[in-house]
Amino acid sequence: MPTVQWFPGHMARSERLIKESLKRVDLVIEVLDARAPAASHNPLLRKLISSQSRLVVLNKNDLADPAATKLWLARFQENDHTLPTAVSATRAQGLDSIPRICDRMCQGARWRNRRAIRALIIGIPNVGKSTLINALSGVIRAKTGAAPGLTRDIRRIPITEYLEIFDSPGMLWHKFESTLTGLKLAALGAIKESIVPGEELAGEFLSYMARCYRALLMSRYDLDDVPQPPHELVEKVGRKRGCLLTGGKIDYTRTSQMVLKDLREGRFGQLSLEWPDGRGWRDEQE
Ligand code: G4P
Repeated sequence: MPTVQWFPGHMARSERLIKESLKRVDLVIEVLDARAPAASHNPLLRKLISSQSRLVVLNKNDLADPAATKLWLARFQENDHTLPTAVSATRAQGLDSIPRICDRMCQGARWRNRRAIRALIIGIPNVGKSTLINALSGVIRAKTGAAPGLTRDIRRIPITEYLEIFDSPGMLWHKFESTLTGLKLAALGAIKESIVPGEELAGEFLSYMARCYRALLMSRYDLDDVPQPPHELVEKVGRKRGCLLTGGKIDYTRTSQMVLKDLREGRFGQLSLEWPDGRGWRDEQE
């Protein structure tokens, strides 16, 4: 399995900004990718805030495996004692639950302070924070886009008369807890693809699909069989899709880009990369 090394300078600044903003808010809304809630969670947050002050939002629920999401929601409720919710920002599904839960979490504070609840929105790049804020506020305010780390400054956005959201920069922790976490984030587009060679990443992902979502994989690329070695799988998919160089050799780069794009755009159908019970995309050597 390839090694992921990543340490962008602006993330240290983001961490300082977030620590500073935490002093001014009543709660934190942590946005996770519903397809990989563990990999997209920032373990640093556990040190900074209590779980009672953290609302976990599993966004991109439209792309995730509903069975996995159901288990994740139960896990957050039982183990972390948070009030989690699953939403789709682009489809505006489940969004009503956010102000409702914030209200429930902070009712005392709201009446005591006679002001709107202040919630800091946090999440690694590309989990959909800007899209979620736009959907919640009903106006295009936050700039959205695929470039990780796009949202830089903290801003205050009124959502309802009793809820305002503070928007933070994307924050990744300094060191991934495991290479596998980095791979999942790279596959989902939360970290820059060039950190791991695209071909290896696509190969690892296709192998995962072959184990856990074989039918979705076969149907997406119209495969009649699924070879086991990752590079053979990439080759098979490339050949099926006509990603060839002159001379008939497979264009591994183009094939890998296509596979990862398909994942990011949800073209395989609903799938998750991890389950709370440890099932999912694993390092076979672990
Ligand atoms: P960020 O602020 O956390 O960095 O993320 P951002 O809102 O920029 O969203 C990153 C990408 O994820 C965007 O796609 C956005 O449309 C997509 N996205 C956000 N929420 C959802 C969701 O609930 N479901 C699905 N399917 N996609 C979601 P993009 O292709 O990078 O940009 P765009 O062309 O859609 O603007």
